[in-house]
Amino acid sequence: TEQTFIAVKPDGVQRGLIGPIISRFENRGFKLVAIKLMTASKEHLEKHYEDLSSKPFFPGLVTYMASGPVCAMVWEGRDVVKTGRAILGATNPLQSAPGTIRGDFAIILIWHEQDVGRNVCHGSDAVDSAKKEIALWFKEEELQKWKPAQFDWVYEKA
Ligand code: GTP
Ligand code: MG
Repeated sequence: TEQTFIAVKPDGVQRGLIGPIISRFENRGFKLVAIKLMTASKEHLEKHYEDLSSKPFFPGLVTYMASGPVCAMVWEGRDVVKTGRAILGATNPLQSAPGTIRGDFAIILIWHEQDVGRNVCHGSDAVDSAKKEIALWFKEEELQKWKPAQFDWVYEKA
């Protein structure tokens, strides 16, 4: 089954949004297979965001993401990468739709230019980047194999 890497960013952790973010994935029937709170090193985050290394905001992004604990998670389910991105909403809080995590929680401070960097939560953008990110943040043995009891009630049987 497909898995994605979701991380509540330092602003989301500080604002007490771990619970609401987990709920949105649980409510949609996705399965949590790994979770930990950790303050990542800059080296770790440079790897995580290596595709963005040429961007002008890259140093600020890495410094910010290393500034405090993030809540790193792996979620599993059908189409979870794409659906996870939909649950998160658009990168820029100005454009993220109400009903999405960013559209409901990311705060828009229009007199700052860099507020797109305070968008509460990260989600993998493709199946292959999800695999790469999961391998960077978690050891194989940290991923739980389990069957939620509700699966017998919510999935149709033949
Ligand atoms: P992630 O889920 O965090 O990867 O966001 P994303 O996939 O929606 O966007 P992208 O991977 O392009 O950028 C990663 C992160 O860099 C964004 O979530 C923002 O926090 C930050 N970022 C992206 N574009 C800008 C920008 O133009 N300025 C600043 N300051 N930060 C940006
Ligand atoms: Mg991204």
